[in-house]
Amino acid sequence: MDRVRELIREDPSAGWDKAWQQNVTPWDAGQSQPPLRDLLESDEVDLPRSGRALVPGCGRGYDVILIATALGLETTGLDISPVALEAARAHAASSGLPAGTKVNFEGWDFFTLAPSPGEQYDLIYDYTFFVAIQPSRRPEWGRQMSALVKSGGYLITLAWPLAPEPYESGPPHYSKPEHYAEVLGDGWEKVLDKEPEHSLERHVGCERLIVYRSL
Ligand SMILES: C[S@@+](CC[C@H](N)C(=O)[O-])C[C@H]1O[C@@H](n2cnc3c(N)ncnc32)[C@H](O)[C@@H]1O
Repeated sequence: MDRVRELIREDPSAGWDKAWQQNVTPWDAGQSQPPLRDLLESDEVDLPRSGRALVPGCGRGYDVILIATALGLETTGLDISPVALEAARAHAASSGLPAGTKVNFEGWDFFTLAPSPGEQYDLIYDYTFFVAIQPSRRPEWGRQMSALVKSGGYLITLAWPLAPEPYESGPPHYSKPEHYAEVLGDGWEKVLDKEPEHSLERHVGCERLIVYRSL
């Protein structure tokens, strides 16, 4: 991640796209996340089966496709990098999605989204977006999540990487599960909080799956 950090330090707004342009995408797992797969296949949380989902900072969009196919939600992957969106659209096009799968990719900055009440989401999923943004923007992240998820809707957070001690560099910036909860505030009920049974090998022991329901 050193090169990514350098690019983002040089240019916080265009740095992500530069990383994509230079093919420096060490976060790209090449697959959807096992804890999300397990959750969507289980009945641990009564997740919505109709409506709309959003994945901010979707990258190549593996989890976007998973949510759309497993839950049948119209799922939008959001990324500020045009190159990431191109890669996500190409990946979706080559994935042989079942007919009727509703997936789309949009080039917006998460912090500029301003939904009207009818446009709120039934579900938002955050994996490596919270830790990608500057920690100083976390309160804004919390306000946006509260504005974007409809009452009764869900926010799935796959919190990774969780380090035992604070560190300065990033992304990914140091985070603890409490950091997510602190900026979400009171309007949420935690409905699941667990160490995943299956994780990517390098995530074992340093990630947590936490699901919130908007009150
Ligand atoms: C660490 S990557 C993770 C990508 C994806 N979640 C994955 O794990 O493969 C973070 C992504 O967030 C995008 N991003 C960063 N800031 C953003 C913003 N303000 N709004 C939307 N996307 C953003 C970057 O372009 C990058 O693709």
